[in-house]
Amino acid sequence: MEKNISIAVDGPAGAGKSTISKLLAKQLEFIYIDTGAMYRAITYKALKLGIDTQDETMYEFIDDTSITLTKDNRVLVDEHEVTEEIRSTEISNNVSIVSSIKTVREKLVSLQRNIAEKNHVVMDGRDIGTNVLPNADVKFYLNASVDVRAKRRYLENSKKGIESNFEQIKQDIIKRDYLDSTRELNPLRKADDAIEVDTSALSIDEVVNKLIVIIKRKVEQ
Ligand code: CDP
Ligand code: CDP
Repeated sequence: MEKNISIAVDGPAGAGKSTISKLLAKQLEFIYIDTGAMYRAITYKALKLGIDTQDETMYEFIDDTSITLTKDNRVLVDEHEVTEEIRSTEISNNVSIVSSIKTVREKLVSLQRNIAEKNHVVMDGRDIGTNVLPNADVKFYLNASVDVRAKRRYLENSKKGIESNFEQIKQDIIKRDYLDSTRELNPLRKADDAIEVDTSALSIDEVVNKLIVIIKRKVEQ
């Protein structure tokens, strides 16, 4: 059987990973895997259970927790849909702690590798190129200035009719980036062989077109 193709997309919050990855997957007819949604889903369950999220011993529940990403990008925890709920500020502000827990990472990374073994994938996250799929066919590291990233989130909220404070969003992003890039296990880091793209001044279409050209060149070599 031919080996499945995998595209890894990493970068900090608001760099455009999920928007771009979804569009790439559509054009390439690959499956899109949002690994951040998986960490958010576990965080949702941890908060529902009311555990002390810093306590490593409280995570036995993940052995009998099921996480499903559907083809139309809905997220289910134990068969219950949480697609909207996992985007809340409460989840965003707790997810970096939950994702630093060893048992959580082990379970989700194994799930992610399994999916990539069976499908052509575009997978986005923090440690895809460095840890989950070190042999990915193409690796991207998307980045943008913190002001641009905070503004994007702010605009996203406005469009949804959610009132928010730009400075607060910016501080939350800075804190999450710090926690994600300084944690001990699989921190956010550009893989040595990843192609870095600064999306600050690029439209979504410009980024997609740029990445498609690179993918076609690399994969068809
Ligand atoms: O969309 P956004 O950039 O805000 O975040 P996300 O991709 O939904 O990821 C949420 C959080 O999950 C990140 O801040 C990380 O703490 C964690 N995460 C991770 O540790 N490893 C990954 N491969 C993906 C996400
Ligand atoms: O997944 P990640 O947190 O990296 O970012 P995202 O959720 O895909 O993108 C955050 C916001 O930025 C979305 O509302 C996108 O529409 C927007 N965006 C943009 O305006 N220009 C880009 N080049 C990429 C994303």
